[in-house]
Amino acid sequence: MVAPYTAEPSTDFQDAKNIEAFENALTYVASELGKDYPLIIGGERITTTDKITSVNPAKHDEVIGTVSKATQNHVDQAMEEAERAFKKWSAWDPGARANVLFRAAAITRRRKHEISAWIVYELGKPWKEADGEVSEAIDFMEYYGRQMIQYKDGVDVKNRPIENNQFTYLPMGVGVTVSPWNFPYAILAGTTVGPMVAGNTILLKPASLTPITGFKFIEILEEAGMPPGVVNFLPGSGGEIGDYLVEHPKTHFVNFTGSKEVGISIYEKAAKVQPGQNFLKKTAIEMGGKDTIIVDREADLDLAAESIVQSAFGFSGQKCASCSRVVAHEDVYDTVLEKVRILTEELTVGVPESVDIYMGPVCDVGAFDKISNYLEVGKQESRLVFGGTSDKEKGYFIKPTIFADADPESRIMQEEIFGPVVAFTKGTSIDELIDIANNTDYGLTGSIISNNRTNLEKARKEFHVGNLYFNRGCTAAIVGYHPFGGFKLSGTDSKAGGPGYILHFMEPKTVSEQF
Ligand code: SER
Repeated sequence: MVAPYTAEPSTDFQDAKNIEAFENALTYVASELGKDYPLIIGGERITTTDKITSVNPAKHDEVIGTVSKATQNHVDQAMEEAERAFKKWSAWDPGARANVLFRAAAITRRRKHEISAWIVYELGKPWKEADGEVSEAIDFMEYYGRQMIQYKDGVDVKNRPIENNQFTYLPMGVGVTVSPWNFPYAILAGTTVGPMVAGNTILLKPASLTPITGFKFIEILEEAGMPPGVVNFLPGSGGEIGDYLVEHPKTHFVNFTGSKEVGISIYEKAAKVQPGQNFLKKTAIEMGGKDTIIVDREADLDLAAESIVQSAFGFSGQKCASCSRVVAHEDVYDTVLEKVRILTEELTVGVPESVDIYMGPVCDVGAFDKISNYLEVGKQESRLVFGGTSDKEKGYFIKPTIFADADPESRIMQEEIFGPVVAFTKGTSIDELIDIANNTDYGLTGSIISNNRTNLEKARKEFHVGNLYFNRGCTAAIVGYHPFGGFKLSGTDSKAGGPGYILHFMEPKTVSEQF
């Protein structure tokens, strides 16, 4: 028996002891910066001459470390090791596989501040957000471990007097996980351990911006008792190994979180049956969002403003769930806009060296240039209310930015910016507010702030997003509480942290015996 799942609490940074412990972790990790990390294939460390250099986006001159870069030959080698490991790992008692996750969760919990500190340095993530991310990783391990135990004997199907029937779930084989930079520990962990605990073995390509945080996770899995070859660590470029991993005839599934462009391309490539492949690949694909908060006419406008600011500017708007559109009723539009402006003015932006920094940098020069360009687009398309400037002298910093009076069809209302930019527009009725909110190719998250029960119920039915929140922000889904995934071009809606997640990576089998 295992205790029921509960979510990992956040660290209380009001407590000076926790601040001191976090500072100590930062000091420790600072002393570890600049090292070189290998690939891990079949448990073996392999060092290549071609490297990825990981740099702190808050400080151009701070190298976090270098990591070896995998080639297609390494993918082939890892595939062989993963196939070998699959034979044994898939035969492990599912409870024993779950125990590897529970131990990895426990190790992560005791090294929580250290892992958070790696995220702070490698990604410029502010303390509270990094701490929340590590909690989420722990949750994925605790939750998926229990899910494996729940499904280990299959589920009930009907029997008849002449017939005994059994319905069980089998692991599929070797699969690929391609994980994003914005949650370099939590999403990397979740998208790896879900299929892994189901009995599969994995070729993991971490995001090239954040490979070292990923390496720390593999070390923890090893310490927790993961056998060699179960997860193989393959940093590398998308061009060199990304497509190759997806198209490999021995890849049984692809678990991807990242951009819409890459997600769609993976979906297409995985669909093609390659020579020598005698099965269809499964995909679980989580892409972007253009997430909207609706503010109704009857609403708590302070709550609306807090929810908008937190959802739009937390982690510099670099979450697929981040709020980038506000659709407010015309009667409250000016008031809520002003409240958001006042709260935004108070936000601290800088190198996340202390708990007080609310917003760090954006992730790299590509993001910085793209978002800076959207600042100009927004100035042309709408009215700048706050921010609108960027500065890359020391790191990639962008001011939290608010645009008002945006046309629902304009680029800033339609295109995913993935930065600290929010655009406001107004509507005259609940129908119009919901129509504007739904007017996007994405369907990931959304919120409605309203005290009108009829309108909330209307939104429940008509606001077409995978994660809909009432009277709160649209970020910060909790594993086991808010299964996470979106409609439309937000992905396959595989619902990370939700019931049945691991079944995406298993094959159900029916056995029927007549007697
Ligand atoms: N799942 C995360 C959230 O809900 C990241 O987008 O905020």
